[in-house]
Amino acid sequence: MQKLNNQVTARASSNIALVKYWGKRDPLLNLPAVGSISVTLEKLFTTTSVHFDPALKHDEIFINHKTAPAPAASRVSAFLDLIRQQRGITTRACVRSDNNFPTGAGLASSASAFAALALAGTHACGLKSSTRQLSELARRGSGSAARSIYGGFVEMHRGKRADGRDAVAVQLAEPDFWDLRLVILVTTPAEKKMSSGAGMIGSEKSSPYYKEWVRGSINDLKEMRQALLNRDFQKVGELAEYNCLKMHAVAMTNRPSLIYWNERTIAIMHRICELRHSGIPVYFTIDAGPQVKVLTLPEYAGKIQKAFQDSPLVHSILESGLGPDARIMEDGI
Ligand code: PMV
Repeated sequence: MQKLNNQVTARASSNIALVKYWGKRDPLLNLPAVGSISVTLEKLFTTTSVHFDPALKHDEIFINHKTAPAPAASRVSAFLDLIRQQRGITTRACVRSDNNFPTGAGLASSASAFAALALAGTHACGLKSSTRQLSELARRGSGSAARSIYGGFVEMHRGKRADGRDAVAVQLAEPDFWDLRLVILVTTPAEKKMSSGAGMIGSEKSSPYYKEWVRGSINDLKEMRQALLNRDFQKVGELAEYNCLKMHAVAMTNRPSLIYWNERTIAIMHRICELRHSGIPVYFTIDAGPQVKVLTLPEYAGKIQKAFQDSPLVHSILESGLGPDARIMEDGI
């Protein structure tokens, strides 16, 4: 058995789904009810250090340089328990995790966070895991984290097995396969009110559209895979908007209803449609929060930033191309 390493630091990028994950076939193992397809973002990432330290009585968790609030800390500890279980140890750990972008605001910080934690945590205790095993492990922390193990264009499989061994992500294409840009229009830096997990469970229980959402995902995935491989921007964009609006239609018809958008989100969607009608190739997608992620081609990203930079609708703007796999940082943070 390998020894415990002193401290290991890993970095993983966040990702944005073009075909969304919404719904769980097993909440305990965090198995998705539908597959999903995402792009991994170069510029938005989490850097996480893990040190298993026999001197510690409890896990010590720091997020963005502060002691983590209790709910986040217990989620991280429960995830560390999975790693400890695999390695057959009970040693507590110190975890320091920093995001270079707003946390918990619908920018997929849990995706990059659990992917980085899976990689740093397994290395720190000397486990040798394949990328497939890392993806399976990351999924236990957050469904979308399974995708952040890989760079570029990524597909998460729903899987069929009850133990979740086949509910893992795979890379569809490397980041340089196609130079796409995401312009992220942050409407508010405030943390979201309802977690995606709780929202999904509410949808399964109460939305009349949930079954149809699950049924329709198979075709959306097939069409998106094909459109990406053909580098068909219009098809990719149209499908991404369609799939996003379906996901929100499901969430909105939860009982009680779940509306992740604010008034700025809606105004921006209209503005994106106007820009598109004026000839700019641009489409939107939105996750479990009020931020709008705009999909475009590199030569138009500047125009889009300009269209929104002085707008009262937008709190801040981030832009990213496609990023790499999760990786170990040799020099630490
Ligand atoms: O990874 P989770 O459990 O936070 O779920 C992510 C859900 C969405 O962001 C709304 C969609 C997706 O596929 O990323």
